[in-house]
Amino acid sequence: MNQPAVVDQNVAGSDAPAYVKNRKLIDWVQRIAALTRPDRIEWCDGSEEEYDRLSQQMVDAGTLKRLNPAKRPNSYLACSDPSDVARVEDRTYICSARSEEAGPTNNWIDPKEMRGTLNGLFDGCMRGRTMYVVPFSMGPLGSPIAHIGVELTDSPYVVTNMRIMTRMGSAVYGVLGTDGEFVPCVHSVGAPLRAEQKDVPWPCNDTKYIVHFPESREIWSFGSGYGGNALLGKKCFALRIASTMGRDEGWLAEHMLILGVTSPEGRKYHVAAAFPSACGKTNFAMLIPPHDMSGWKVSTIGDDIAWIKPGRDGRLYAINPEAGYFGVAPGTSEKTNFNAMAMLKENVIFTNVALTDDGDIWWEGMTDTPPAHLIDWQGKDWTPESGTKAAHPNARFTAPAAQCPSIDPDWENPAGVAIDAFIFGGRRSDTVPLVTEARNWREGVYMAATMGSETTAAAAGQQGVVRRDPFAMLPFCGYNMSDYFGHWLKMGERLTQLNAKLPKFFCVNWFRKGADGKFAWPGFGDNMRVLTWMIGRIDGTTNGEEHAFGFSPGYGDIDWGKLDFSHEQFERVISVQDSAWRAELELHDELFKKLAQGLPQELAETKLGIEQRLSA
Ligand code: GTP
Ligand code: SPV
Ligand code: MN
Repeated sequence: MNQPAVVDQNVAGSDAPAYVKNRKLIDWVQRIAALTRPDRIEWCDGSEEEYDRLSQQMVDAGTLKRLNPAKRPNSYLACSDPSDVARVEDRTYICSARSEEAGPTNNWIDPKEMRGTLNGLFDGCMRGRTMYVVPFSMGPLGSPIAHIGVELTDSPYVVTNMRIMTRMGSAVYGVLGTDGEFVPCVHSVGAPLRAEQKDVPWPCNDTKYIVHFPESREIWSFGSGYGGNALLGKKCFALRIASTMGRDEGWLAEHMLILGVTSPEGRKYHVAAAFPSACGKTNFAMLIPPHDMSGWKVSTIGDDIAWIKPGRDGRLYAINPEAGYFGVAPGTSEKTNFNAMAMLKENVIFTNVALTDDGDIWWEGMTDTPPAHLIDWQGKDWTPESGTKAAHPNARFTAPAAQCPSIDPDWENPAGVAIDAFIFGGRRSDTVPLVTEARNWREGVYMAATMGSETTAAAAGQQGVVRRDPFAMLPFCGYNMSDYFGHWLKMGERLTQLNAKLPKFFCVNWFRKGADGKFAWPGFGDNMRVLTWMIGRIDGTTNGEEHAFGFSPGYGDIDWGKLDFSHEQFERVISVQDSAWRAELELHDELFKKLAQGLPQELAETKLGIEQRLSA
C-alpha cells in the first residue's frame, strides 16, 4: 500500500520490545502506525496483568461493566452500539486478483481499488487512540499444524477477547523468530477521537469493511467491534484465509464443531459437524446424554472451527484452532446446556446480555421465569411486561475452552483426532428429515453443498428466511464455492486411494416444527439418540431404511429409552414429502445455476440420481 514511509518518532511505544526479532513484523507495525497515526503503540504480552489493566481501563471508559464478583468472578458485560451487533456479510469482501476466484457467493472488489479505499479509511483513523499489537497462534503454540497471526487493533475489547479466543501473547514472538510467517490483520473501530472529546463506550463507524486479500493472506477490518468482524483470528483468518490455504495445501478449514463420543463399551469416536451460525454447534459439542443413556459420554474438542488434514494412514485428523468459545447466549440454560452454564461461572466477557439488579447477567431462555427487573442490553430498564428482548438475540459469551467441564483430553493434541463422521445440519422448520445418512462421499458432498438453512441473528439482515448455505460455509469460504466443492470431492478421491475407512456423511435437522409452530423434536440432550444411531451405522450395527436421499432410521432403530416419543411424532420429524422435495430440488437447481462456472459435474450427476429415485 502507498503508506508514508517514515514513522512519527513521537509515537510512544513505536520501538518494538527487544524480544521481538521479526523484521517483517516490526516494519509492518511501523508502516501501519504511520498510516493510522495512533497516539501510542502497545505491544501486548498476553499477561493477566495486561488483561486486568485493559479491562479496568474499559470499565473506566464505560465500555465494560464489572459483574458482581460474588456472583460472576472476574467477569464483565459489554454492551455494543445497537448498530454493531452481528457479522455484516454484505460488507465482507474477498479481494482476490480475479473476481472468478472469489466466485459468485462472495463480494468482490478489484484489489487495487479496495486498497485505495482502505488507505483512505485507515488514514489517521487511530488518532487519539492506542494501537495494540496482538500476536496470536491459531492452534497449539509451535505445533506443526498451527498458524500465526498478528492483529493490530485500536480496540481494547478486541485485545481481551483475543486473549480468551486464541493463544495470545509474547510467546508467539519466540515461535515467529526472525523470519517466521504470520497473517497480518489490521483492525480499527474507525472512530477517531478528537482531543477535546471523551471516548464513547462502544466506538464504531457506520461505514464497515471486512476485507480479505487471499493471495497476500492479509485481513483489513474497519468500522465494527463485533466478534466475527473484529476478532480477526476467527472467521477472517481461521476460515476465509485458512480455507484458501487448505485448498492450496490439501487440507480443509471448516465451520465445524468437533466432539468425541465414547460408547458404554469404552470405544471412542470423533465427529465433526457443520451447522450454520446459531444453529446448534456449541450445544451439540457440549451435549450431555439423557439419563437413560448415561453409559455414553460426549466430550468437547471445538465448537466452531475445525482444521482437518489427511494423515499418512488415510484418515482425516481435526484440530480446533481456537482456545475459547464465543457462543450464543440466548437459549443457553442449565437444562439445555449444563456444561456451558458451568463454563460461564467465572472469567467471562458477556456481550449484549441483560444486567440483573444484583450485578449478574440474564438472557432469554436462561431461566423459565425472567427476573422482575433488569437493565436490558441497550441500558434501559426492563420488566417482563416490556415486550422487548432483554438480551440481544445474538448476545454472546467469550469463555476459555479449558473451563468447559466436558473438554476432551485431546483438545490440544497437535496431532488432532481422527474423524469418523461428518454431520451437516440446517435450521429448517419443514422438508428436511431429522437424520439422513449419505450412501457415499460423493452423495455426502451433494448433501452438504445443497444444504439450506433459515437465517439467524448472527448476521445482520432479515432473519428466518431459507437460503442455501453450502457446508455452513456460505459466509466463510475464502474462494470460489464451486472450486471448494471440487476440493472436497478430490479429498474423498485421495483418501479412497489410500484405502482407509472414509468418514460417513450425515445430514440432520433438529428444527422441524409441528402445526402448532413448536419444535417437533426435543433436541439438545436427546440429539444423543440420533448420534448413537449414527455410531451404529459407522459400526454397521444399526439398521436404516433406504430412500431417495440415502438412509434414515425407522422408529425401531432409535434408542428411545425413557423418552415418550410416539410413532406419529417420529413420523412428523423423519418424513420425506415428495412435493416438498421437488420444490427443494428446484432450489438446488438455482444454486447450481448460480455456481455453474466450474461446478463439478459429479453434483449434477448425483442430482439426476436423486430425481430418478424420487420418481421411482
Ligand atoms: P455460532 O456460534 O453462531 O456459529 O452458533 P452455533 O452453531 O454454535 O449455535 P448454538 O449451539 O449456540 O445454538 C444457537 C441457538 O440454537 C441457541 O439459542 C440454542 O439454544 C439453539 N439450539 C441449539 N441446539 C438446539 C436443538 O437441538 N434444538 C433446538 N430447538 N434449539 C437448539
Ligand atoms: C458465527 O456467526 O458463526 C459465530 C460468531 O460463530 S462470529 O464470531 O461473530 O462469527
Ligand atoms: Mn460460527
